[in-house]
Amino acid sequence: MASSASQTTKRARKKKADSMLWSRRDFFSFGGWAGIAFVLGSALLAFVRFMFPRVLFEPPMVFTAGSPSDYLIGEVSTKYKKEQRVWIIRREDGIYVILAICTHLGCTPNWIPNKQAFKCPCHGSGFYMDGTNYEGPAPRPLDRVKVSLNAEGKLLVDKSIVYTMRPGIDPDEQYPESILRI
Ligand code: FES
Repeated sequence: MASSASQTTKRARKKKADSMLWSRRDFFSFGGWAGIAFVLGSALLAFVRFMFPRVLFEPPMVFTAGSPSDYLIGEVSTKYKKEQRVWIIRREDGIYVILAICTHLGCTPNWIPNKQAFKCPCHGSGFYMDGTNYEGPAPRPLDRVKVSLNAEGKLLVDKSIVYTMRPGIDPDEQYPESILRI
């Protein structure tokens, strides 16, 4: 009788041990699948990221800017400042295009009509309408870019051709070709 009870106890222990063994096996199996799912998920994410590369979509370096008659003599047009970071200026003798990049540390100046000057908000540099620096830490005039007429008579601005100004010399004298005579 006692031996039968002991056998029952042994069987119960074995059953319990078996059930623990299976649950451990299940646990490791689950861990394995989770690992595979993680690896596949990471690979999928990497693939999706690869399909959408981190590219800066910059505006084109060459763009058309309407007709010369769209610009009034004596006015600084801020129409392309935000999109292209340039001002288009028409004078009696022609049109020129100034890069809206301060020659001190590269901030974007603003055109102040009642002062007839460009003022940089960062450290206070000031520039006349032709780009000449007259106050503040900017060491030289604002740079200009090439402007010409295309076959249809529209203004063609090419920012890949920059007239880099030297200090102390009138921008018109340094680069007469920066002015489109019309
Ligand atoms: S960046 Fe314009 S004054 Fe310093």
